[in-house]
Amino acid sequence: MSDNKTGVYDAWDINTRVFHWINFLCVLVLSILGLIMLNKGSIGINGSEAAIGLKALHATVGYVFATNLLIRIAWGFLGGRRARWSSLIPGKGFRNELKNYKASATAGKPQTFVGHDPKGRLAVLFMMLLLTIMMVTGMVRAGTDIYYPPFGDFMAKYVAAEGVSFDQIKPYDETGTDADKYASLQAFKKPWGTVHVYTAYLLWLMILVHLVAVTRTEAAGQGTIVSSMFSGKKYLPREPEDG
Ligand code: HEM
Repeated sequence: MSDNKTGVYDAWDINTRVFHWINFLCVLVLSILGLIMLNKGSIGINGSEAAIGLKALHATVGYVFATNLLIRIAWGFLGGRRARWSSLIPGKGFRNELKNYKASATAGKPQTFVGHDPKGRLAVLFMMLLLTIMMVTGMVRAGTDIYYPPFGDFMAKYVAAEGVSFDQIKPYDETGTDADKYASLQAFKKPWGTVHVYTAYLLWLMILVHLVAVTRTEAAGQGTIVSSMFSGKKYLPREPEDG
């Protein structure tokens, strides 16, 4: 229930908040493991066994991340008003909303919102897109690089030489593989890895933008944005545009 008189509003439902913090933890752990993988040579991690172990650990956390993201994507269709894709994806009149929001900020009395402000909507949508790209490219890399689910068995069956069972195929080992098919799998997996890494760079940049924007918005007196992702409640000093 909202208590509009005191300026306290229901902003985020429990599912959205749980998604946000599980996603935060998963992205943090995946990023740390990803950075270790990118710099393993310079931090003294050598040998394919250690590299495969790191990739396997990263992929395992990746499944938690992917499950959480898929639930959130579904919640965008099933959940309440503020969790819905329709409240994130810009519709008719969005240009005006953005213009009015910018004008109110320039005039020193920025509009307030129970959900996202127009700029925040764009940022969150873009981050969701980046997370989805990370999920898809990560799954393909898990399958093509270390024969992990959901595509791992299919890839191992593809590269296995005639008469060799797919479960005898091991990552970073050409034993039992068909040379041509192995080479074509290497060529296929490469661009997925490139997109995975460059999207990670873009995601880290967006996370930085997100942290700065949230802090600045709260400091500008546009409501208790940070605590609302814990409590679900947002205190707003003025009547919101989307109340
Ligand atoms: C936001 C989430 C994620 C971030 C920030 C991230 C980041 C990274 C980074 C920086 C690398 C290092 C690439 C390299 O050494 O060249 C990497 C590799 C990898 N990632 Fe992710 N990743 C994420 C999600 C996922 C997911 C969901 C999966 C799939 C389950 C996954 C599977 C892999 C695999 C198998 C590798 C090793 C293969 C390779 O070298 O490309 N990642 N990731």
